Amino acid sequence: MSPSRVAAFVAALPKVELHLHLIGSASLDTALALARRHPDGGVPTEREALRQYYAFTDFPHFLRVYERVNRLVTTAADVVTLLDGLAAELAARTVRYAEVQVTPVRNRMAGIGYAALAGALTEGRALARERHGVELGWVFDADALLGPDGAEETVDFAVGHRPEGTVGIGLGGPETGIHRADFAPAFRRARAAGLHSLPHAGETVGPDEVWAAVNELCAERVGHGIGAARDPRLLEHLAEHRIPLEVSPTSNLRTGAVRAIEEHPLPVLHAAGVPVTLATDDPGMFHTDLNAEYQLCHEVFGMTVPELAEIARTGARAAFCEPDLRDRILAEIDQVEGAAATNAG
Ligand code: HPA
Ligand code: ZN
Repeated sequence: MSPSRVAAFVAALPKVELHLHLIGSASLDTALALARRHPDGGVPTEREALRQYYAFTDFPHFLRVYERVNRLVTTAADVVTLLDGLAAELAARTVRYAEVQVTPVRNRMAGIGYAALAGALTEGRALARERHGVELGWVFDADALLGPDGAEETVDFAVGHRPEGTVGIGLGGPETGIHRADFAPAFRRARAAGLHSLPHAGETVGPDEVWAAVNELCAERVGHGIGAARDPRLLEHLAEHRIPLEVSPTSNLRTGAVRAIEEHPLPVLHAAGVPVTLATDDPGMFHTDLNAEYQLCHEVFGMTVPELAEIARTGARAAFCEPDLRDRILAEIDQVEGAAATNAG
């Protein structure tokens, strides 16, 4: 199939996006507007300078920039603005459902009270549905830098406020010198309250942290998880237990988690039978979108149209959305794939 035909197929393909962060989803224009409102925030207020600011030297540098941008989001209205912009972007990429990572403790530190945050999420979710036709779910992620206490506070928010659409508990931030296992008590409490376990693990480190996410945090999906590629036994475990990895190739390239896109282990994960879903992580900061990630899989890893359709199905099956919505997305994927096959033949 010609490159333009694949691009048209990807654009029409109904998709879910299971790993993206609220703050990192802000478009360049939205981030600029926030930076200009807080000129002392240390974030560039000119377009080209902001673009340059998003050229990350390594993963810790990315986390520092992310934290600075997080501090610009200071009101409930900002959160609604971010969600409105995000939903518009998702709709433009034929994304029907997204699980958005929100870091309530960081939002609280930036000045947004918990009740106001919960209200903004509810308002933004309704807006996403009504204005853009996109359904949103929430993953409340703890920042590992804030330690187990921060994770407990995250669970307090998720369980205490539980805004509509709450799906699970997550864990982001650095992995070097901070272990997933330290967060087991908070994850246990979240799971007991009916929340799904959706931590990042194995983004910048090897398989040990992915094992810890699976064994200690009872992860039902793993954010990134690319470190698993170095351990055949772990790959077998993920494949056998159908634990999906939320893979974000462009993110991994931009943060330096992989040296070159050709070295990205996605093909290894896929070939081992591990369920793989595609995600953007922080599309505004990494200059990407979900269609671009699918396109990349075709161009760099040689994935075919049926394989891309299967990745979209894996995403729909791994999503914690309403079963009706999942069935509708799966039926739409069949339809779009069928039409592409007819056109190609
Ligand atoms: N990993 C860890 N923390 C993050 C990420 C990520 O990919 N994105 C935003 N915060
Ligand atoms: Zn992430």
